[in-house]
Amino acid sequence: MRDKALITSALPYANGEIHLGHVASTYLPADVTTRYLRMKGVEAYFVCASDDYGTPILIQSEREKKTPQEYSAHWNKRDLEDFTALSIDFDLFSRTSSKENAEFVQYVFDKLNKAGHIYHKEIIQYYCTIDKKFLPDRYVQGTCPKCGAKDQYSDLCEKCGSVPEDIIDPKCILCGQTPIMKPTKHYFFHLKQFAKPLESWLDSNTNLQSDIKKYVKNWIKEGLVDWDVTRDITWGVPIPLSDAAGKVFYGWFDNHLAYISTTTKLLSERGIDGQEFWNSADIYHFIGKDIVYHHYLFLPAIRMGIDSEYKLPDYIPTRGHLSLQSKKISKSRNWYIGLRDFLKAYPADYLRFYLLFITPYSQDDLNFDLDDFAARINSELIGNLGNFVNRSLGFAVRTFGGIIPEPAHHDSRDEEAREEITQIAGEIDAHMALHHTDRALKRLIKFSASFNQYFQYKEPWKDREAARSCIFYSANAVHSIALALYPFMPNAAGRIWRQLGIKQEITSKSWNQLSTISIKPGHKLGDVYPLFKKVDMDDIERQKTALKEH
Ligand code: MF3
Ligand code: ZN
Repeated sequence: MRDKALITSALPYANGEIHLGHVASTYLPADVTTRYLRMKGVEAYFVCASDDYGTPILIQSEREKKTPQEYSAHWNKRDLEDFTALSIDFDLFSRTSSKENAEFVQYVFDKLNKAGHIYHKEIIQYYCTIDKKFLPDRYVQGTCPKCGAKDQYSDLCEKCGSVPEDIIDPKCILCGQTPIMKPTKHYFFHLKQFAKPLESWLDSNTNLQSDIKKYVKNWIKEGLVDWDVTRDITWGVPIPLSDAAGKVFYGWFDNHLAYISTTTKLLSERGIDGQEFWNSADIYHFIGKDIVYHHYLFLPAIRMGIDSEYKLPDYIPTRGHLSLQSKKISKSRNWYIGLRDFLKAYPADYLRFYLLFITPYSQDDLNFDLDDFAARINSELIGNLGNFVNRSLGFAVRTFGGIIPEPAHHDSRDEEAREEITQIAGEIDAHMALHHTDRALKRLIKFSASFNQYFQYKEPWKDREAARSCIFYSANAVHSIALALYPFMPNAAGRIWRQLGIKQEITSKSWNQLSTISIKPGHKLGDVYPLFKKVDMDDIERQKTALKEH
């Protein structure tokens, strides 16, 4: 672990609201990791941006009679509000359409071009003579030649998942006419040239998930295809060549470069040299498994193509897809829950807890189930963790006036309790170091369960003298819980912290303090009240009814 870190999470398309499917695999694990690394004393920054370019965004803005600038600005603002409501705290949430990114993208292209990694050739594209436009990607609909599904886009058949280049009965989506075929000059990134260096990079980077590495290396074996980085549309970063007037970059050429341009923008505002920082930091790109190809091949190849002026990622934590009530999430079929709507019904911390609890560090898919959500919150979070915090601090208030007593009559069970506190930081660390955020959270829940048993065993209500050590160690365990919980549930952790009555901010504390006996005899607690409210089962039924496919 380096003493600096730069964390990104996959850039959301500026094309519709953030829903539960987005947050589980990337934004939450990235946010938790950033908070954790900071507590470990690492200088960590967390950046993101809206992914503003691409034909779907252009087409949708045209449908809504907005400029693509306005349209994407709307979603950029909305996304940031929704992320903020979930306590996803980016240091900067920029846009791929920012001036800084455009400049950087053009700089990278120039450098690749001069180094011989770019070539051009004529290709044949659909062209609409009525709209007087080339029709890339989603601009053409037709019948999939593979599976026969009607009304599929030429860049993706949603039925069979293939990319039907020779779509049957193509139609311009703007006017419905049959397009003609017309030659146009496109620029290609020579991805094939990077097969060998990519392979050695994959071999040498032992931080990458090995099962993913395996199939990425298989893709290399099967043969890489050069990337067409040109689009004949008006919305995108212009290609900086005199004979490429009217052409822009494909969105996947510019979007991941915003990881870098957003970082340098953020850091320059703070008087830090972005490039120097980048190259001395651990670089993390959190992604979902649908964009492995782009992040394990395309992105590193482009960085290599500019002489690794900005170093390649150290970590690409990749996680699986979320389904909802055991069915695939689909915006078009209305089978999804918007983040904003969910946060109207339940606190952000509940969603963070549940998703982090069920999301492994692997490509395995996971399922959001409303009954399971209610059960986990009510039993693990409230019945276990919330209960321990409240019963121990509540007892301290009622019996000792909120003043932590001097421990007396130490027995072996008290010794065990002390021992557990001194071990817990390292045990959670072991999971976090391997990116197993779910196991780390479960370890913490186990810690609180064990202290519930301790409390039960000690029966402090029976003997005021014997209660002293129980309350002393319990208060210290609550202190540990607050600190360890902070990366996962920052709001709840802050509330526990205030109940403990500690003057300094929780964010000023470091990770290893969670294994110290910091609450001393004589310490005065703050106001103590129940932390959480149970999830109501009638409410869950209402949520289920509201969720209707169409
Ligand atoms: N917008 C893309 C998606 O949702 C992700 C872009 S991540 C980037 O699939 F880094 F490559 F920009
Ligand atoms: Zn047309």
